[in-house]
Amino acid sequence: EIAAPTNMSEVSVATSDIKPNLGATGAKPDYSQAKIVVAMVGLPARGKSYLSNKLMRYLRWLEYDVKVFNVGQLRRALAKAKLKESGQKEDHTAKFFDPHNPKAYQLRTQMAEECLEQLIVWLKNGGNVGIHDATNSSKARRDAIAARIAKEPDLKLVFLESICTDPAVIAANVAVKVSSGDPDYANMSPETAKKDFLERIKHYEEGYESVDADGTESHLSYCKIYDVGRAVTVNQIHGYLESRIAFYLMNLHITPRNIFFSRHGESQYNVEGKIGGDSDLSERGWQYAKALPQLVKDAVGDAPLTVWHSTLKRTAQTASFLPYPKLAWKSLDELDAGVCDAMTYEEIEQYYPEDYASRDEDKFNYRYRGGESYRDVVVRLEPVIMELERQENILIIGHQAILRALYAYFHALNQEDLPYIKIPLHTLLELTPAAFGTRERRYKAPIEAVNTHRDKPPQKETIAPDSPVSADESTVSKELMDAATSLPPSQIDPSGGHILD
Ligand code: F6P
Repeated sequence: EIAAPTNMSEVSVATSDIKPNLGATGAKPDYSQAKIVVAMVGLPARGKSYLSNKLMRYLRWLEYDVKVFNVGQLRRALAKAKLKESGQKEDHTAKFFDPHNPKAYQLRTQMAEECLEQLIVWLKNGGNVGIHDATNSSKARRDAIAARIAKEPDLKLVFLESICTDPAVIAANVAVKVSSGDPDYANMSPETAKKDFLERIKHYEEGYESVDADGTESHLSYCKIYDVGRAVTVNQIHGYLESRIAFYLMNLHITPRNIFFSRHGESQYNVEGKIGGDSDLSERGWQYAKALPQLVKDAVGDAPLTVWHSTLKRTAQTASFLPYPKLAWKSLDELDAGVCDAMTYEEIEQYYPEDYASRDEDKFNYRYRGGESYRDVVVRLEPVIMELERQENILIIGHQAILRALYAYFHALNQEDLPYIKIPLHTLLELTPAAFGTRERRYKAPIEAVNTHRDKPPQKETIAPDSPVSADESTVSKELMDAATSLPPSQIDPSGGHILD
């Protein structure tokens, strides 16, 4: 039994011990238990690398640690050394993929295994989702993967098969492969490269067994995706992250389309330098709202378009002259600045100096008192991303912080840079999802507006402690690790690979 205090002073805390009630800097969610191997399956030119990279971008945006381990990359890095040892000439042409070429077959198997080992080491050292980007197109190969992962009690395995039956999709994928500067075809004409790649596909077709085609793989976790989203089969998918991955993949499509972003027109609060609130547009803001239909028409033409905006007046007013169907989303409302709502940055610095400094130190994590952080915004925008993936042409009329978070998803920008992305007022952004990244074009309306962007303040220098290298990791050479995880610029867009027109 605890005696009630007789004197309140016994339980009071010296005021000097009370920490100022700073907006919490929310920690990264604890994903340490999430350890999944996603093993791709499928013939060449079926969009495996596309799916791998999309999935990586989505999960990284949600702050999972994700890495694609590409066997082709490792093959090229290892080929030189190993082929030399075995007295063969380096060859990445179709001959190397001929199932009747036993030496090459053995080498390919070894490389897929080596790549899987690297992936396992990486997961054990803290990674969450390792994507084994290879064909894994025979049952024997998948059995070997399943047997290896079964030895690792903390790792789960999901096969992700991409099946394309649409000749147009296959032809487009072949065209990307042979025209994108793929290192296998670096010294070949596009015609020779195409011929060789088609021959390689034929070799794979000889031994191709679709997952669970004969009913003997029903115990495995797998997703089969037909023509990127036309149909999806899901088998033995359990657990939160696996379900989330499956759900995301179900929502993807590759119909060409554009996504447009615009901030609302300049608002009264923007003019006064205040943040948040629910003010009306300024006079120039209204001018932008009136100019927007033509700006959009110039970009979209006669294609159908749907407009999404927030529930705040300034975005609805900006959308009001647009002749398209509209939808208001609460999730698109601006980052909630809590007690700082309706203040200027100068007032925040004056009244909440420590908050102001904390935000400058770690803007992504800083959560306003009684409000939100950028991390909170990313979490609430996840359903918007999911729906965006399902839709075709969409124009989002949003707010500075919201559009930064959405933009970071499409361009694979990291959390630290996200809160500093420049999204100026009175500018329409057109994003075009492409095979490996997102193309971008900006259309600026000739209507002046204030600048609401604050640059990142210069950071104080900190010395990072050396990161420990585990015994496991040291057995895998750095170059090989890099070789398997770094795709050539033409295939992956590390910073989004975005093109600014
Ligand atoms: O200043 C306009 C605004 O949309 C504010 O309402 C919002 O608080 C702010 O931008 C977000 O930008 P930052 O995170 O850079 O303060």
